[in-house]
Amino acid sequence: MKGQALLFISLLSLGSVVGQVSYTIPEEMAKGSLVGNIAQDLGLETKRLISGKARIYTRDSDEYIELNRERGVLLVKERIDREALCRQTSPCALHFQIILENPMEFYSVTVQITDINDNAPTFEEGQIEFKISESAITGAKFVLERAVDLDVGTNDLQRYELKPSDNFALKVHNNADGNKNVEMVLQKPLDREKQEQISLVLTAVDGGEPQMSGTMLIVITVLDVNDNAPVFTQTTYKATVTENSPKGTVVAAVTATDADQGSNSKITYSITNTLDDVRKVFKINKENGEVTLIANTDFEESRNFQINLRASDEGGLTDSCKLIVDLQDVNDNKPEINIMSKSNVISEDAKLNTVVTMINIEDLDSGENGNVKCFISESVPFTLKASSNNFYSLVTDSELDRETASEYNITVTCSDEGVPSLSSSVTLTLKISDVNDNAPVFERSSYEAYIVENNTPGLSIFTVRARDADWNQNARVSYILEDSSVNGVPVSSYVSVSADSGVIHAVRSFDYEQIKDFQFRVKAQDGGSPPLSSNVTVKILIQDQNDNPPQVLYPVQTGGSLVAEMVPRSADVGYLVTKVVAVDVDSGQNAWLSYKLQKATDRALFEVGLQNGEIRTIRQVTDKDAVKQRLTVIVEDNGQPSRSATVIVNVAVTDSFPEVLSEFTDFTQDKEYNDNLTFYLVLALAVVSFLFITCLVVIISVKIYRWRQSRILYHSNLPVIPYYPPRYSDTLGTGTLQHVYNYEVCRTTDSRKSDCKFGRAGSQNVLEDNLGDLLNFLLLLCRPINVF
Ligand SMILES: *[C@@H]1O[C@H](CO)[C@@H](O)[C@H](O)[C@H]1NC(C)=O
Ligand SMILES: *[C@@H]1O[C@H](CO)[C@@H](O)[C@H](O)[C@H]1NC(C)=O
Repeated sequence: MKGQALLFISLLSLGSVVGQVSYTIPEEMAKGSLVGNIAQDLGLETKRLISGKARIYTRDSDEYIELNRERGVLLVKERIDREALCRQTSPCALHFQIILENPMEFYSVTVQITDINDNAPTFEEGQIEFKISESAITGAKFVLERAVDLDVGTNDLQRYELKPSDNFALKVHNNADGNKNVEMVLQKPLDREKQEQISLVLTAVDGGEPQMSGTMLIVITVLDVNDNAPVFTQTTYKATVTENSPKGTVVAAVTATDADQGSNSKITYSITNTLDDVRKVFKINKENGEVTLIANTDFEESRNFQINLRASDEGGLTDSCKLIVDLQDVNDNKPEINIMSKSNVISEDAKLNTVVTMINIEDLDSGENGNVKCFISESVPFTLKASSNNFYSLVTDSELDRETASEYNITVTCSDEGVPSLSSSVTLTLKISDVNDNAPVFERSSYEAYIVENNTPGLSIFTVRARDADWNQNARVSYILEDSSVNGVPVSSYVSVSADSGVIHAVRSFDYEQIKDFQFRVKAQDGGSPPLSSNVTVKILIQDQNDNPPQVLYPVQTGGSLVAEMVPRSADVGYLVTKVVAVDVDSGQNAWLSYKLQKATDRALFEVGLQNGEIRTIRQVTDKDAVKQRLTVIVEDNGQPSRSATVIVNVAVTDSFPEVLSEFTDFTQDKEYNDNLTFYLVLALAVVSFLFITCLVVIISVKIYRWRQSRILYHSNLPVIPYYPPRYSDTLGTGTLQHVYNYEVCRTTDSRKSDCKFGRAGSQNVLEDNLGDLLNFLLLLCRPINVF
């Protein structure tokens, strides 16, 4: 408006102007600066100016120029800004009049204001922002804001610069109105993943001197496009997990990255195996890629798993990888013991290294966990031998003896080498069968047994016993009497042995006076095949019984007539009249004899020596004493009960032999008689010998018969009827030599030649009944007896 007004004033003044001057000044001059010497230029004097009251006339309210009348010059009254005054109008001038009065005159003055470069190009905003997708194609255009420079001409905006120029180029279009459109053109594709934000500086430069510029920051945010697939950090992952790990155990975590942003980089993980069981065993956390167990794993079933994994972003781009999970063995399987073959019984004579049992071991674990060692309890005579491939055989390694151990429980224990180790065991029961390797053994190395004579035949004496360590038939002992002879007679006629029980029985009645002891062997034999045996000596000692009364040898008792002992009347006190001589075939106490005077004509005259049987006078013989004295002496043994015999001793008290003869006519013996006696004695001996032999035959026959009878009796288990020889039926009360043979004794004391008298056998029974008695008799006959 102001510009138009100025223009209008100028047109008016042009019509009435007298003089006209024009000045040119640059803008922005300091106050009071000289614009021009107006007085001089108009040809006016300063007086006129003062008198004419010269003044500046302008319609503008602002007065930039003042008139100094005294000096006649125009001065800058106010700072002049061309841009404010004229904007982009050019040229820019101030038009005013100088008016004078008295007379009125006016002059037009034009002050042209020239531009100086006092304005830089400026942008309206210091910064602008763009959001450009990274998928924007090259050649895409982006309009930029223009810069403004208030100056004009060369001082006005000349050109733009854009830096850096990597992705974008600047393109300036000149519009028809002279303005310039500025565009930014994409030259190289953007990549958000490389550079998410790009800062550019747009500079606008003018042409002034000095040159001025303005800048604007262009901030480009690159928008993401799903142009990147997820990428796993590895193509193959490896993990190990121990078998039987609990469900929920994290096996591994896989990671994929996506260079994109936001939902374009949101990755979900999944397992893509389809054919195998992997999806039943593992699960993946789709958010964080953690692979966990969801089922039990068994190394013995499968040793590793190959898991195919996929990572997808939300834009549907994917990547895949493999996760190989190796299972680690855990010692979770015991060794298995399989008995392939075994024998339940083995003979005790089995050779060393006899195979008893074969065993196979299996352990499903692997490595150390599947390495198995087997052993057995050490104290058995067996050993475990390892052969290849987990086969073992149990063999004997020392000799077996059923008698020490008849059964073995062999525990085979197998352990693997895992930590902790697992083991299992099996117990084999093995019986040892018997072999007849032990002979029966008697309880003692020899036996001695006692039996009292006159026993009943069949009496059991005692028992031998042998033990056999073997078993059953091999230990079944039989007792056998070994053949031998005792005094020329087979021992079997003395004793018998019960085969089963070992009881020894007397076969006959023993007579101590015939046999005092004997010995034999008993064999013990087992039932094995071949049988084994051992033997033992048994000694039987026969004990004496008082079964024989004393026998008086002297004085000889003859029927009726008696031999008398002489005692001279002059005999002193203690005169030895005679000596009663007796023997007892028993022994010990049973044969210890004592002598007592039982009856006497005159008890005061004689005594009998208790021990020696000597008859002595105990006082002086007087004339009053009868010639014929008769003494009865009893001889007793010391047995229990005691047995005795009596003898009558005739004593003649005389001064001379004829007197005796007259008294004892019986005693008279002539020589002829003696000669005849000798003959008869020889004859008698012959007869007796014949009788003896006959009797012997008879007795043996009878004995054998009886023995058989007693055997039958014994075996029939009937009560044994005591058997007594007939002579025991006597009563002992009589004290006489009943049933005892009357016999003569060879007297060597009295006569130089042997004049034996033999008596007849008292009873035929004796010979028939007892051979022993007869033998005794014969022995006695031939035994030289020393009477004194
Ligand atoms: C072996 O074992 C069996 C059964 O357990 C038992 O009856 C027997 O006495 C055992 N034998 C030995 C010798 O230990
Ligand atoms: C009896 O045993 C002994 C060894 O004790 C032996 O030497 C002898 O031959 C055996 N006798 C018989 C008849 O068997």
